[in-house]
Amino acid sequence: VGDRGGTVDPTNLAETPFGQPGVRQVGENEYEVYMVARQFLFQPGTGRPLTLPQGSKITFHITSPDVIHGIQVVGTNLNVMVIPGQVATFETSFPEVGTYGMLCHEYCGPAHHTMEGLIEIVPPSEFNEDMLVQ
Ligand code: CUA
Repeated sequence: VGDRGGTVDPTNLAETPFGQPGVRQVGENEYEVYMVARQFLFQPGTGRPLTLPQGSKITFHITSPDVIHGIQVVGTNLNVMVIPGQVATFETSFPEVGTYGMLCHEYCGPAHHTMEGLIEIVPPSEFNEDMLVQ
């Protein structure tokens, strides 16, 4: 991932879109995900899956408030480092309905091995506004 995602103050994510992590709809079949990777979880994604519609254009923005993490979406080619203060931005789409695991692949502390989450891809007809940040 290059530097086009820009930078944020990692000590003050509350003042940025990362203060409310989650999914925003930005077009008919276009969504943006603001995700925070922190010791030791993905927001959204850990505890409750990150739900996204199949086939839509998804732009991820991911940052960290603490230490370097990584995110790998198992079974895809999505694999980025997440560096405090930098925003990792990339576009993707998920052509298949299903559930994907997310793993942290950079050692980030004593519970690194527990840092995981889920992405759930649903048919567009099942995607609804409850799955968005309001
Ligand atoms: Cu986060 Cu390892």
